[in-house]
Amino acid sequence: MSPFLLTRTLPEDATGAALRADVLRGLTATPKTLPPKWFYDARGSELFERITGLPEYYPTRAECEILADRSAEIAAATGARTLVELGSGSSEKTRHLLDALDGLHTYVPVDVSGSALTLAGQALVAERPGLHVHALIADFTAALALPATPGPRLVAFLGGTIGNLLPDERAAFLTSVRALLSPGDALLLGTDLVKDEKVLVRAYDDAAGVTAAFNKNVLSVVNRELGADFHADAFDHVALWHAGREWIEMRLRSRTAQTVKVPALDLAVDFAAGEELRTEVSAKFRREGVRAELAAAGLDLAGWWTDGADRFALSLSTAH
Ligand code: AVJ
Repeated sequence: MSPFLLTRTLPEDATGAALRADVLRGLTATPKTLPPKWFYDARGSELFERITGLPEYYPTRAECEILADRSAEIAAATGARTLVELGSGSSEKTRHLLDALDGLHTYVPVDVSGSALTLAGQALVAERPGLHVHALIADFTAALALPATPGPRLVAFLGGTIGNLLPDERAAFLTSVRALLSPGDALLLGTDLVKDEKVLVRAYDDAAGVTAAFNKNVLSVVNRELGADFHADAFDHVALWHAGREWIEMRLRSRTAQTVKVPALDLAVDFAAGEELRTEVSAKFRREGVRAELAAAGLDLAGWWTDGADRFALSLSTAH
């Protein structure tokens, strides 16, 4: 058996159809929205990589610190023989976990990007003889079918990406993850924590303007894929803290009254001067909130680790 397998569970045209549906729904809604998953074409992924190195953007470093310090403990608590990673991307910070899981048999990275999966997967099997890598091209917000691999399983969802889902989407997501778990399996979840508003806003509105470019990149994606004529310069990047919801919102604010055409949807979209398009929410969490959301999905909080400055948390939960 080959140590590197790649399975595509998404039809080749699924992405295009989903983008058209999301853009049509979002740009005809009031207020206008676009889902954050469309940031991540090649340029968006590169801009996000640059964000993770910015002095203002602490979550990646905070989570890495926890993984570096606590992977042995996490590994011991799970004894996982299969590690499933949702939204694995480059699998970079997973290395600490892979190193710590002594009895690991198979690593299952799951991502919508086949190229990222192949790159990371090939490198891993070359570095770690004996480790099986079964990569899945899949959208982890939809129902997942996992390969038959030895348990216990540890499902990891890192980076705080769960914060990009709205509360009802989070509930549906956690319920579908719960359905993947058998007794003895566990979920390792990364969540950014509520903290000082200035620190949060700076993390999403950096001085170098990388996050602004990342935010505007979604307009280039819609231009390229759907033939739209968005002008990035006609919008301002906005990052704000919604105290009631405890989430950061990124928006694009139209500088003037303008009409944007989206030929692939036969659509013309009017923006008033100052009108805002919401492109992302990034929810921030507290321990009790995480515990409650996990419990509502049938998961019991079994471990909680934060970085030294309590900025970010990794939680471990098990099915009951
Ligand atoms: C990769 C989804 C965790 O919400 O912090 C970074 C994406 N957006 N800067 C986040 C993001 C703006 C990031 N996640």
